[in-house]
Amino acid sequence: MKLQYSSLFIIISVFLVQHKALAKTGEGIYKENCYSCHLLGTNKLDPNKPIIGSAALKDINLFADQLKYGTGMMPAFPNIVKNNDEFKSLYEYCLKLKK
Ligand code: HEC
Repeated sequence: MKLQYSSLFIIISVFLVQHKALAKTGEGIYKENCYSCHLLGTNKLDPNKPIIGSAALKDINLFADQLKYGTGMMPAFPNIVKNNDEFKSLYEYCLKLKK
């Protein structure tokens, strides 16, 4: 019985570590949170407002505001902005998106 509990603990720890490592990359965060509406940097809900070429990418503070509060039909993502490392890697990933 004791052995079973410790194996379970190991499995859960491995899962958590892997999950954290995935979430750290800008691409991982993007795929998890943005991709459904912003497929490849476009905008499915409002095609006139894609991420590629957006004024909100001109500076990291504008990008932070976009995520902190959301605009129009876009929901807010305050938790991403709070995690500085993740937020920065997401920003860098968005800057690299190209048509
Ligand atoms: C539910 C759909 C949805 C999700 C999920 C979503 N967005 Fe948006 N996003 C939108 C919509 C709709 C707009 C246009 C909002 C408006 O009308 O101002 C937008 C606008 C933007 C803009 C500004 C585009 C412009 O210049 O007008 C950026 C940058 C952006 N989103 C980034 C992201 C990022 C990064 C994520 C993931 C953390 C994300 N979005 C998640 C729907 C979404």
